[in-house]
Amino acid sequence: MQEWERNRGLWSARMRTRGGCGSEEWVVRNLRRCKRRKWVPVPSLRRTCPALSRQDAASETRPTALFPDYQSHTDQGGGAILSNIQPAITQHTTNNPTLIANAPPTATMHITVVPASPKTGQAAIRALLADPARPTVKGVYRNLARVPAEFTSNPRFEAVQGDVEDASSLDVAGSDAVFTITPPIYDEQDIVAHARNVSENVRAAVQRAGSVARLVLLSSAGAQYDTGTGEILSNHAAEVALADAAPEVVFVRGAYFMENWAMCLETIPAGFFFSTLTPMDYGLPMIAVQDIGAACAAELLATGTPLASRPYVFELHGPRLYTSVDVQKAFEEATGRSLEIRPVERDGLVDFYNAVFPPAVAKLYAEMNASFLEGGVLHQNPNPTREVRKGKTELVEALKQLCA
Ligand SMILES: NC(=O)c1ccc[n+]([C@@H]2O[C@H](COP(=O)([O-])OP(=O)(O)OC[C@H]3O[C@@H](n4cnc5c(N)ncnc54)[C@H](OP(=O)(O)O)[C@@H]3O)[C@@H](O)[C@H]2O)c1
Repeated sequence: MQEWERNRGLWSARMRTRGGCGSEEWVVRNLRRCKRRKWVPVPSLRRTCPALSRQDAASETRPTALFPDYQSHTDQGGGAILSNIQPAITQHTTNNPTLIANAPPTATMHITVVPASPKTGQAAIRALLADPARPTVKGVYRNLARVPAEFTSNPRFEAVQGDVEDASSLDVAGSDAVFTITPPIYDEQDIVAHARNVSENVRAAVQRAGSVARLVLLSSAGAQYDTGTGEILSNHAAEVALADAAPEVVFVRGAYFMENWAMCLETIPAGFFFSTLTPMDYGLPMIAVQDIGAACAAELLATGTPLASRPYVFELHGPRLYTSVDVQKAFEEATGRSLEIRPVERDGLVDFYNAVFPPAVAKLYAEMNASFLEGGVLHQNPNPTREVRKGKTELVEALKQLCA
């Protein structure tokens, strides 16, 4: 059968919906017709049909079990058609109080996290697997030996091999939504070229799949700038490459990770830690990785909800600003001992980072660090998108977890 013939059922469904049809009987009749003729049913049609969804709930089936063609169709790019049609039907159903009252649970979503190893990827997977929406989650790992046991034991999780540096290794077919992160690199490579390359590889995989309605990128505060922000330039490159990768694109611009303070654990047994956040009473937005995971999971699960723009961008901060003194107090509470802060002043940043990174990386980290201090480019306009969401984890909780 030609693809246009298969899709005729979908277009016909759309036209009927526009014409005011769409009773429960009509939906059941059309879904049965799709099944009989091996056409692909529109997911939101299935959602409006309690009879079929009850079958789903009872057997815990994915759409592929009820409608075997669903998977192969979306693999061939039919998902784009589904995405186009869905809004019309969703609008229709949301105008119908009877259908809303009888609405069954949402159909299973399929979400891919690529790459899955970064700690933010792990936090998002953890949040997705714990969510009552019960999505299936696929994690892409360059090394399958690194998959955490807490995920492999979950029947809704699947780990697959893939490396964001190798376009041909990435397969996100069948996914409704994709979460991506540009993994940091600490060698002498050009970080901007690397971020552009891995993001273009993810973009190509998303577009090959044809099923992906929403792409969520973990980006960074300051990613709107194309100069003067050091390592954050990698996030800028990723945003440029992915801005129109899918029908819905969300950039989550994370603040400074609370977990960055893990670098202090080495010297804390000696009673001190270095801080590059100066002066000591200067406050910076910080966010816990678990809150990043929760925020990104929520965005992925909201796939299909209209966004005000493409890309849709927001800043993600913690509950409040934190200073170096706050970090000192939080570490003291977490470790039960008093600690000295050893400030690293602005003009000492390059030497400080040179002690741990190759020179090119050290220069980028020093530039990034200066960009968020007083007078830096990020400090001048800390909320450029005018939308700031806040995580709930306090610094002391995050540092207690680091010290545990
Ligand atoms: N730190 C901050 O304050 C901050 C703030 C805002 C935004 N960000 C952004 O957040 C992102 C970093 O997130 P994160 O901290 O969660 O990362 P992370 O934990 O540092 O991620 C490192 C992991 O990525 C995996 N990886 C590296 N190269 C890979 C590849 N080619 N293919 C597949 N996996 C690869 C590696 O895992 P395996 O060895 O197991 O493969 C590695 O352990 C960056 O884009 C950064 O710019 C950071």
